Amino acid sequence: MNKPIRKAILPVAGLGTRFLPATKAVPKEMLTIVDRPIVQYVVDEARAAGIEHIVFVTGRNKQVIEDHFDRAYELEDTLQSRSKKEALELLEKIRPTPGATSFTRQQDPLGLGHAIWCARDIIGREPFAILLPDVIIKSHTSCLKQMVDLYDRIGGNIIAVEEVPDDQTQNYGIVALGDKIDDRASQIANMVEKPARGTAPSNLQITGRYILQPEIFDLLSEQGQGAGGEIQLTDSMLKLLETQPFASLKYEGKSYDCGSKAGFLSANIAYALDDSKLASELIPLLNDMLKHPLAAE
Ligand code: G1P
Repeated sequence: MNKPIRKAILPVAGLGTRFLPATKAVPKEMLTIVDRPIVQYVVDEARAAGIEHIVFVTGRNKQVIEDHFDRAYELEDTLQSRSKKEALELLEKIRPTPGATSFTRQQDPLGLGHAIWCARDIIGREPFAILLPDVIIKSHTSCLKQMVDLYDRIGGNIIAVEEVPDDQTQNYGIVALGDKIDDRASQIANMVEKPARGTAPSNLQITGRYILQPEIFDLLSEQGQGAGGEIQLTDSMLKLLETQPFASLKYEGKSYDCGSKAGFLSANIAYALDDSKLASELIPLLNDMLKHPLAAE
C-alpha cells in the first residue's frame, strides 16, 4: 500500500514581471480567469484530487493570496444582512477547512527547487504533490487526480507531461521516456531543464504537476545552481531518478500557461466558452472582432 498523497505545495513567490504593470501591486496568481483568480483553479484541482493540506510558498507582496483563502468577515456579514444566499454559498465553498493551509516565505528568489525546499518542514517525511500555479489544466478529471490514481497503482514519483512544438523545448523541463506502463504512462529515462535549442531529448515538457517522495528534499538541500543560474527542481529529480522509480503521465486535458499573455488570454476565452450563457454573448463579439479586427480604433 502506497502512502497517501495528503499535502501539496503551491510555489507562489514569483514576481510576475511579464505582466507588469498589472502585477505591481496584485500577485500574478490573483489575475482573473473569467471570475476566479488563477490560484483558485489550481487549488480546486488539488482538492478534487483529495489533497487535504496546501502549503503556499509565498514572497513579499503576496498577502492577498492568504486573504483570498480566509474568511472575509465584513463582506460575509454584509451579504448575510442583504440575504445574498448564493454569493455566501460561493464564498463558503472555496474556503479551505480551518488549519488546512500553511504559508511560508521564500526569502530569496533562488529558483523553483529552492522554493520547494522551503516547504520541507511543513511537508515532513511523506510523499506530496506540487502544482505550479502558472499552469492551469482544463480537464474532465482533475489532472492531479489522474496522477494520484496512477500513483495508487504504481507508487514512486510521477510527473505530468505534454507535447510541445520542437521549437519551444528550450523554455521547459523536458523528459525522455523509457518503458511503457500503459497507454498514457511510461517510465522516465532522462530529464533536462531548459535544454539548449536543438539538444532536447524529446518534445515532452514537464507540465507543472508532480508527485514526489520526500527524499527530494535531501537532494534539494545540496543542489547547486542549474539553468538560468537557479536551483532547479528538475536537477534534483534527475538525481532521485537514479535510486527511485519515476513515471510520466500524458494526462487527459489541456494546459494553459498563464505565465504568458497568450496563454492567459486563451484560458479566459476557453473557460468563458464553457459557460453557456456567457458563451452566447461572447461568440458573436469574438466573430465580429475577427471579421473587423480594427473596429475598436
Ligand atoms: C518550471 C519548471 C519546468 C516546467 C515549467 C512548466 O519552469 O522548472 O521544468 O516545464 O515550470 O511551466 P518555469 O516556467 O518556472 O521557468
